Amino acid sequence: MISIFVICDFSLFASRIGDKKMTNRKSPITNFYEKIPFPKMTTNMKKLITREQIAEGVARIGQEITRDYAGQTVILVGVLKGACLFLSDLARQIELDATFDFIAVRSYGTKKESAGEVQLIKDVTTPLEDKNVILVEDILDTGFTYTFLRKLLLARKPRTLKFAALLDKPSRRQMPVEADYVGFKIPDEFVVGYGLDYAERFRNLPDICVFSEDTGK
Ligand code: IMP
Ligand code: MG
Repeated sequence: MISIFVICDFSLFASRIGDKKMTNRKSPITNFYEKIPFPKMTTNMKKLITREQIAEGVARIGQEITRDYAGQTVILVGVLKGACLFLSDLARQIELDATFDFIAVRSYGTKKESAGEVQLIKDVTTPLEDKNVILVEDILDTGFTYTFLRKLLLARKPRTLKFAALLDKPSRRQMPVEADYVGFKIPDEFVVGYGLDYAERFRNLPDICVFSEDTGK
């Protein structure tokens, strides 16, 4: 009885999404996504990186940072909102005197694609001059966000600036930037979970999952 309901429901989903493209405007597709209850959408998402693998990757980066900055202090600057879960887990894997700060940007484009224009919406509150700054991001994709933040933070004259990205999608890079610490290199898939969102949803999934227009089929 339950399985018949599920099959019918997802065939309705499939026929509604058709082959329309996501746009910036509030499209009928987005409205439809918003109506699908959270558990129903997530049960069929493919896990790309499990919570156990995430924990291993985060621990490895924590060890690398602990080793690289032995005897020094660091400031972790998290890029809101996507990096908040990564930063909170990473911080507990760093055996150094570490402080936190946060920065927030907005990048223009559709919900899945950056258009290359990045705007600062919240600055750090800590002076960064002569400090070891580690910028902490959920994902390095086209590189526009990091290029923008790098220039902004370097202008504050830190002693060192490094970049930790939990995920890296090298195939989509449009700017010549790389992260110093990378958890996982992933293929060109749009992912959600562990801080990463689609239209602000799914950040609280414990695993990193592939989100696609077919999700739920
Ligand atoms: P970039 O400026 O293209 O490098 O993208 C960085 C930002 O784009 C990240 O901080 C994310 O907010 C967002 N982003 C890029 N790829 C994904 C993805 O697969 N899922 C969710 N957000 C993404
Ligand atoms: Mg985002």
